[in-house]
Amino acid sequence: ENIYVGVDLGGTAIKVGICNEEGHLLHKYEGPTETAKGVDTVIGNIEKYVRHIVEESPYSWDQLAGVGAGFAGFMNIREGIIILAPNVGFKDVPIRALLEERLGKPVKIDNDANVAALGEAWSGAGRGIENCVCYTLGTGVGGGIIINGKIYQGGGMAGELGHITVVPDLEAIQCGCGKMGCLETVSSATGIIRMAKDAVARGDRTSLSLVENIAAKEVFDAAKAGDEVALRIVKRAAYYLGKSMATVAAVLNPEVFIIGGGVSKAGDILFDEVRAVFAKLAPEPLQRGVSIVPAELGNDAGVVGAAGLLLRS
Ligand code: BGC
Ligand code: NA
Ligand code: ZN
Repeated sequence: ENIYVGVDLGGTAIKVGICNEEGHLLHKYEGPTETAKGVDTVIGNIEKYVRHIVEESPYSWDQLAGVGAGFAGFMNIREGIIILAPNVGFKDVPIRALLEERLGKPVKIDNDANVAALGEAWSGAGRGIENCVCYTLGTGVGGGIIINGKIYQGGGMAGELGHITVVPDLEAIQCGCGKMGCLETVSSATGIIRMAKDAVARGDRTSLSLVENIAAKEVFDAAKAGDEVALRIVKRAAYYLGKSMATVAAVLNPEVFIIGGGVSKAGDILFDEVRAVFAKLAPEPLQRGVSIVPAELGNDAGVVGAAGLLLRS
C-alpha cells in the first residue's frame, strides 16, 4: 500500500500528515518552523519531520510515494519555486528541487489555500462536488478554486481571492500585497482586529477593550453577546466576503463556496450575513443550487490537501 505525506508550512509550526489513497489522514505530527533561523533551517525541519512521521508509523520509507507541501504566498507552481512567502521569509526559493534532493522522493508544492481547497474537495465539505471555491480566513485571506475536481492554476497563481478589490477607494487601506482595498484587509482575522482597535481608539461605545493581543474570537464573542460595535465589525467582514462571492459566482459559477480558517469559527453570525449579502448581490440564476458552507477538515485541510497533490493534480 502506498502512502503520501502532506506538509503544511506555517509561520510558527510545520504540520505533517500521512494519508492513504482515499484521502484518509492516518497519522499527524507537528514541530516548530523556526522561521527566525532562516531558510536552510526551515527546509531542514521539513525533512526532519517527514522522516520522523514515517519512522514512527507502521509504514516503511519505501511505501512513501511522494510528498506534497502547501505554502502561504505567491509561487511558480510549474517550476516549484516560492516567489514570495512573507510569513516564513522565503523569497525565490526553489523549494521543490531542494526537498526532492533531501528526501529522494517526488515532491509537489502549491499555495496553502489551494491545498486546503483540494483537501476539502477530496474528503471534506466539497466531497463529490466537481466545482467549488474555498476561502480560508486566517491571518490573511486565502482562496482555492477547484474545477472538475482539480486545482485551477491559471498562470500558476490563480485563486488569490484575498486580493480581490472590494473596499471602495475612500475607505480602503493598504494590504500586505501593497495594493489598496483588498478583501484581506477587512475579512481576515488581522482586519477584524484592526477594525476593533480602531473602534476602541475612536471611543465607540463597546465592551471591547484595547488589550494588546486582542483576538478575532473576542470580537465574535462580544458580537454574540449583543455588542453593537463588535456586530458591525463582523458584519463588515461578512459583507465584503459575500460581495466577493457574488463576483466569483459571476466568473466561475461554483456549486459550493466553502469557508474555513479561524474566522469561520464565528459561526452563524458570520454565515447568515454572508448568505444574505450573496443573495442580495448575485444575480438570481447564479444563486440557484449554490450553497455557502463551513469547511469540515479544520486544521487538517492543509496536510490532507497537500498529500492529495500527488494524486489529484
Ligand atoms: C496570500 C495567499 C495565502 C493567504 C492565506 C495571502 O495573503 O497572498 O497566498 O494563501 O494569505 O495564507
Ligand atoms: Na490560492
Ligand atoms: Zn492584497
